[in-house]
Amino acid sequence: MRMPTDQEYEVNYEISVHFNYRLIFTEHLFRHSNPDLIHVLNPPDRVSTPARVLVFIDLGLLDAQPGLKKDVEDYFYFYRAQVNLVAPPILVPGGEAAKSDSRLFDRLVQSIHDAQICRHSFVMTVGGGSVIDVVGFAASIVHRGVRQIRVPTTVLAQDDAGIGIKNGMNAFGKKNFLGTFAPPFAVLSDPQFLTTLDQANWIGGISEAIKVALLKDAEFFAWIDRSATLLRDRDLGVMRVLIQKCAELHLRHITTSGDPFEQGSARPLDFGHWSAHKLEQLSEYELGHGHAVATGIAIDLLYAQHQKWIAPERVSEILACMTTIGFRLWRPILLRKNPETDRYLILEGIEEFREHLGGSLNITLIQEAGIPFQIDTLDSTGVMQAVFSLRDRFSGDNAPS
Ligand SMILES: NC(=O)c1ccc[n+]([C@@H]2O[C@H](COP(=O)([O-])OP(=O)(O)OC[C@H]3O[C@@H](n4cnc5c(N)ncnc54)[C@H](O)[C@@H]3O)[C@@H](O)[C@H]2O)c1
Ligand SMILES: [Zn+2]
Repeated sequence: MRMPTDQEYEVNYEISVHFNYRLIFTEHLFRHSNPDLIHVLNPPDRVSTPARVLVFIDLGLLDAQPGLKKDVEDYFYFYRAQVNLVAPPILVPGGEAAKSDSRLFDRLVQSIHDAQICRHSFVMTVGGGSVIDVVGFAASIVHRGVRQIRVPTTVLAQDDAGIGIKNGMNAFGKKNFLGTFAPPFAVLSDPQFLTTLDQANWIGGISEAIKVALLKDAEFFAWIDRSATLLRDRDLGVMRVLIQKCAELHLRHITTSGDPFEQGSARPLDFGHWSAHKLEQLSEYELGHGHAVATGIAIDLLYAQHQKWIAPERVSEILACMTTIGFRLWRPILLRKNPETDRYLILEGIEEFREHLGGSLNITLIQEAGIPFQIDTLDSTGVMQAVFSLRDRFSGDNAPS
């Protein structure tokens, strides 16, 4: 054996890890006649002891679908030879507040501990993007990561938040300040959950589909534009198509863009997001992520229009599509100022986004649908011009926040 000499003080090692997870579109997930979940937890070709599963359910979802907890329990009882529901489902308050509550987070970790979930057991979350984010974060740090099954139940969770590889929670007033990259074991997406969403959460997630369509697929945007009224009027079939296409584009990006764990500064899917995150924070999370993203997209489009990077007609078409779907694009909160500095607070979002990216700003805009480009500075005057244009066009909408 050759021993290292004094000169050999640096060695480079490379680690590559392969992740693989399934996104399954299903219907009526907890009907006994539907074995999709069982096949994920305990595939028919694997002879083993019943898979151990701890289930978390979003309380807002349960309020809207009171029979769900019993349906889950009955389902697991029916398949008890293959799966072991280790405790009654744990109820987690829904909505963004769940992501900002460190005591709730401690309780989540405690319940995973109490249920003796090991790295071969499963934590399954049924709910909106917020509950999926925070339970997923807890699951990703217990034993340095236990297997997660996600069952997203809002449009935004099915087309974006619940299908990717990120999770997290808010801290120090900052959105997603804590979190990990942790690919799930599987995601099961069932449009039947969506029928009880209120109108705000029904349309909210459509903004993420508009975003990804504008960045990657002009034809998809044209389809959304043509389907705007059907989407607004809660056509479940049309929504299902939108979700599948949007999820496919997101996952193709995550799996093929070469930077799934976002180690570089570019964040090509974050079109419209620098101001969206700040708006959510300024509204104290009253404004949902999807609605903030719609306004964020509008600001970035109007910014690009002022810079003459995109034709005004294209911008008007996209804004009209969003308002037909029901988005209120103007938010008076955009004009709130810091009383000490007299500076518009929304502009702080630029710095916060830069910090989140890791030091250098990288903003994605579009020339037209399907043609993105990157910029590395945002000029504050131009941003406020865009905000004022938004006000001049849409302040008649009387948005509440
Ligand atoms: N991890 C990611 O990659 C990622 C991506 C995008 C967004 N997000 C995050 O997702 C969160 C937003 O998720 P969201 O839009 O799903 O909102 P949400 O999870 O806050 O849910 C909104 C409301 O709907 C309720 N609800 C859930 N399912 C329901 C149903 N089927 N019927 C009736 N009510 C139901 C919830 O209880 C909640 O009150 C934000 O925190 C956002 O930052 C994460
Ligand atoms: Zn988003």
